[in-house]
Amino acid sequence: MGEETTKPKKRKMKGIILAGGTATRLFPMTATTSKQLLPVYDRQMIFYPLNTLIKAGIKNILIIVAPEHSGQFLNLLGSLFKKYGIHITFEVQSIPRGLAEALTLGENHIGDDNVALILGDNIFEDDFSKQIKEFRSGGHVFAKKVSDPERFGVVKFNKNQRAIEIVEKPNEWISDYAVTGLYLFDNDCIEIAKNIKPSERGEVEITEVNKAYLKKKKLEVTIFEGEWLDAGTPDSLLEASRIVKEKGITRNFHPVIDEAITEFSAELKVLSKKKLK
Ligand code: TTP
Repeated sequence: MGEETTKPKKRKMKGIILAGGTATRLFPMTATTSKQLLPVYDRQMIFYPLNTLIKAGIKNILIIVAPEHSGQFLNLLGSLFKKYGIHITFEVQSIPRGLAEALTLGENHIGDDNVALILGDNIFEDDFSKQIKEFRSGGHVFAKKVSDPERFGVVKFNKNQRAIEIVEKPNEWISDYAVTGLYLFDNDCIEIAKNIKPSERGEVEITEVNKAYLKKKKLEVTIFEGEWLDAGTPDSLLEASRIVKEKGITRNFHPVIDEAITEFSAELKVLSKKKLK
């Protein structure tokens, strides 16, 4: 008989990118394409969250897309990373019912594993591979100090980096740390998400998932200093390109991403030459 252990079972980490939504703040640009397919410096926005997950060694990534843009995502990413053993799949979200719906739409994809969920319009300069690889159980959020906490979901934490309070757009100050768009959850998140009632604005809120882990004293917080860019408005989209270029953020990408992009571009060149003949 083997020795009994209480350590949580090591599960695999699956990835989910939320690339649906309506992106009303970017109209009319997003009348013809998805926000996450708009360029940030020299590549589509979706490559930034993809890099965060691929760098952490995640091999199975589900992308949640809006029905009208599913074909464009498939064209770009359907087989881009296949030869590198990275499998990208897609799930259509018919209506943007909220971020936590990713966990129920992704139930089969997550299976018995844990999940790293990332917003498709969030760009991180920092490498979170260590936290993602070492994650075992509970929930884990990534927080950044901001000067206008009333605009964000904010988290208060103790000296052990455990969350003690989370408030969405607080009227009264509780903390300067905004919860950013990367979340690590253990397998319980599926059941938690299934039981969330839509909020006043009619969405199943990711804050409710975080609060459920907080209630069990199982929500850990990583504070980071690097850039966090949320490219959801015309100004922040422009600013994102400028910062990515200035800081050379794409130079730190996983090599597989640039290799795949270069190969894809070469194929497109051959195809366009053939069309001209
Ligand atoms: P938001 O920026 O909150 O929403 P949005 O992209 O629709 O933009 P706007 O507020 O301008 O109308 O969404 C954050 C990220 O999550 C973004 O990448 C879109 C994605 N998302 C979904 O995939 N499904 C959803 O149900 C929602 C609400 C957002």
